[in-house]
Formats: sequence, structure tokens, C-alpha cells
Amino acid sequence: MKPYYQDSAVTIWHGDCQDILPTLGEAWAKAIVTDPPFFMPATTYPMISQPRGGTVEFHPRQWGDTNIMGTWFKHVLSACVPCLSLTGHFFTFCNTDSYAVFFPHVYSRFHFSQCLVWDKGRGGLGKVFLHAHELILMARWKTSEFSCDAKPTPDILRHSPTAPTQREHPVEKPEALLEAMIVPTCNAGDVVLDPFTGSGSTLLAAKRAGRKAVGVEVEERFCEIAARRCASEMDFGTANPTGQPPPRFGGGSVAPGCSTPNG
Ligand SMILES: C[S@@+](CC[C@H](N)C(=O)[O-])C[C@H]1O[C@@H](n2cnc3c(N)ncnc32)[C@H](O)[C@@H]1O
Repeated sequence: MKPYYQDSAVTIWHGDCQDILPTLGEAWAKAIVTDPPFFMPATTYPMISQPRGGTVEFHPRQWGDTNIMGTWFKHVLSACVPCLSLTGHFFTFCNTDSYAVFFPHVYSRFHFSQCLVWDKGRGGLGKVFLHAHELILMARWKTSEFSCDAKPTPDILRHSPTAPTQREHPVEKPEALLEAMIVPTCNAGDVVLDPFTGSGSTLLAAKRAGRKAVGVEVEERFCEIAARRCASEMDFGTANPTGQPPPRFGGGSVAPGCSTPNG
């Protein structure tokens, strides 16, 4: 099988992540940072109906309807988690409802979980309480390790959304936000996996931070966009003749096992 795109830092596979990931081996990713689609049944099925000539009927939401999504996510995790190193971290974007659906599956696969909040700084969709944040479900094992660049930061990540005029995907995530998850959990040269790549924002953020990245995307048009964006980012081998990625987060103390700037 041939990747759709490859450079010195990024590999993109075109296809369903549940088919591709089991072919890529085990324990090679230092972080999974992803943003899967949500398809909550209650927003898909009509809640009020009026049979012809009949009275209006109200169909309350059933939690059991979310089983479709829960089962799908469980299969996605079964494909993703074997790729993750036992020293790695897992991050998935969620909305309020999908957080509750994803949580039990993540809970049973990892030792610790944490809710991070992406604070967008300004309101978006809505009538009164405008949507100004998204949730990120983060999980780790007892054996997971932070990177040499990790430093204490709040669990609320403040980053402006990508401007609609600059987006190449309807729900594109800003690279700075993704970098804030990648840098503390992956050392330079470690590999980040995004099984729902979209326009490639995670891959681009990883490449810019001197990490490597593997993405999987089912729609070819998004593979094309992701490949173009990654290709336009200079390879760090070319940008810096030493082959060492540039330092991004100065001033922190050196964690055990991390080398000093002089090696
Ligand atoms: C929420 S978007 C990701 C957006 C991305 N974070 C960005 O910044 O552009 C989810 C992506 O997953 C892709 N997708 C959906 N099901 C998939 C699957 N089974 N395997 C791989 N990709 C899939 C969709 O085509 C969509 O582009």
C-alpha cells in the first residue's frame, strides 16, 4: 500500500482509519490528536412528528440512540490505541454530547482522563449562550510521559479559531491550539497520529514543532488539501542544516531523561 503523500516529517494515508491503522504496526505514535466527526442521533432524527391528519407527537430523546455513535467510537479506539506507545497521550475533540458518549470507552482503555477546554475567546453559533468553547478529552496511562518541552499550563487553552475566510475545512482547528497539545506530549522527532486528518492541521502543527506526523483521511479532496498544506511547510531537515528542530519553548527546566540544549 502506498501513502497518498509523504515528506520527511508527514505521511498521509487515504482511506478509512479503521482499515488503514491495523496495517501500520503497534506502539509507534507518541500522541493521538484527533477530531472525529460527531453524528448525534437526536439531531438527526425528527423529535416532533404529525402523521397526516393526526395529532402532533413528541418523541423524547433516548440515551440508547447514542449507541450507534458509541459503538462506532469503540471500534475507532480499537484501531487507534494499539498504534499508541505506552508512554503516549490521547486527545479527542468533543462536543457536550459526544464527550459523554466517548468518555466510558476512553475511561476503560486508559488509567487517567482529563477534560481540557478550548476557549475560543468569542461567541459563535447560538442565540443567547453563544458557543465559545469546545471540549477536549485527554487520556493517559500510568506509564505515559510528558515531553522535555512540557511546562505547567492551565487546562483551558485560549486560541482564536481559524477565520472562516482562511479555512480549508468547515471545522478546521487552529494550528496553535494543536501545537499546545503536541509540544508537551511529544519530543522532537516523535510521531503524532491524527486518524481524522481533515485539512491536515494536526500534521502541519506537528511538522512546524519539529515532530513527525501520520494522518488518515477518508475523503480524497481533504487528503489533497492536507498534502498541499504540509508540502508548503519547509521540511525541518531543509530549514535547519543540523537536522535539529528549532527550540519552541525556552526557559523551562529539563525533565528527567531529556537532554540539555547542548546534548
Ligand atoms: C472534524 S473533521 C477534522 C478536521 C481537522 N481537524 C482539520 O483541522 O481540518 C473530521 C474528518 O474526518 C474524516 N473522516 C470521517 N470518517 C473517517 C474515517 N472513518 N477514516 C478517516 N477519516 C474520516 C472526514 O472526512 C473529515 O474530514
